[in-house]
Amino acid sequence: MYVLGIETSCDETAASIVKDGRRILSNVVSSSLKEHKKYGGVVPEIASRMQLESITKVVDCAVKEAKIKLKNINLVSVTCGPGLAGSLLVGISFAKSISLGLGVPLLGLNHLYSHIYANFLWCRKVKNTFLTTENRTLELSPKAIFLNAEHLAFPFVALIVSGGHTTLFYVKDFDKIDILGATCDDACGEAFDKVAKILGLGYPGGPLIERLARRGNSKNLKFSCSNTKELLDFSFSGIKTAVLYYVKKHSIAPALPAGRHSQLVRDVAASFQETVIDTLIKKSLLACKFKKTNRLVIGGGVAANTRLRERLYSEAEKKGLNIYFPHPKLCMDNAAMVAGLGYQLFKKGYKSGLDLNIDLN
Ligand code: KG4
Ligand code: ZN
Repeated sequence: MYVLGIETSCDETAASIVKDGRRILSNVVSSSLKEHKKYGGVVPEIASRMQLESITKVVDCAVKEAKIKLKNINLVSVTCGPGLAGSLLVGISFAKSISLGLGVPLLGLNHLYSHIYANFLWCRKVKNTFLTTENRTLELSPKAIFLNAEHLAFPFVALIVSGGHTTLFYVKDFDKIDILGATCDDACGEAFDKVAKILGLGYPGGPLIERLARRGNSKNLKFSCSNTKELLDFSFSGIKTAVLYYVKKHSIAPALPAGRHSQLVRDVAASFQETVIDTLIKKSLLACKFKKTNRLVIGGGVAANTRLRERLYSEAEKKGLNIYFPHPKLCMDNAAMVAGLGYQLFKKGYKSGLDLNIDLN
């Protein structure tokens, strides 16, 4: 069964063809990030306008790269929330038109659940195609072998860490997912983005902080994450403010050319990152303990962070846990995870009507 996935929840326009829920035949992402950089974050109006302009060619490209014809598609699966309202509407409207035109079923699904599903995709020999807004091919990924999809069984705890969410789930099945905890203020990726802005590094901040932190010493200064009333909730706005005051107090000069940051800036990045990772690990392990499971699944943009991976793998070894991360290319927003989850839910009897609407919750 060939599923066309469409994902437009934030700045990306993504389309993918996945066969039988696991095998990625194409994975095309067009990002409008460049347009947002000068504002230090995503501007919703710009994002949806760019998505409107690029969605036809992104879907065309996904179908072509999968070496199938439009008429071979059996199901159209689309993100309907949470995300930016205008952006989601572009994807949903386009998905409806394809579903109606081809006479195939339509299925709207939750963005966070699809991030969890990224762990079930079989990524052997995946080619990710990144299109710029001008439709130039930017990067073709090397062939990747990732087989964790084969070994993952229900139930498990899932930690989704992205630019908009930080949530712990207990996953019993693709359609039986409970929330165990969530952020009370900033999302984890948002905190990375804001701290990067404070340090004058640019946007998106996660990869830039990670790079800088590699040459920093996290032990040279101490930040901490605020406590939360509920043990499995998160709070990241306090640590962001602490970094802001530290930078002001020590008159740390931001925005130096790449590679010329002072040791103090590197130490701030390292200490911030290490503290956030400590919190993510502590709460995830606690959730596993509460739910008596030894399976922990990570997803979302921050899951691409190599330090988080290293730390969790070493923690897992000590505690006898099985840790699952998606392939790094599938941590960020993509449509393969939407197509894959769509297949699983459709098999369980789920389907949407043409009255499908955005769902921001
Ligand atoms: O899942 P995603 O692509 O979009 C949302 O659904 O929000 O996540 C984007 C977020 C951004 O905040 C970005 O800074 C963060 O993921 N991110 C990272 C890394 N790569 C991306 N954060 C920490 N370390 C990284 N290597
Ligand atoms: Zn996302």
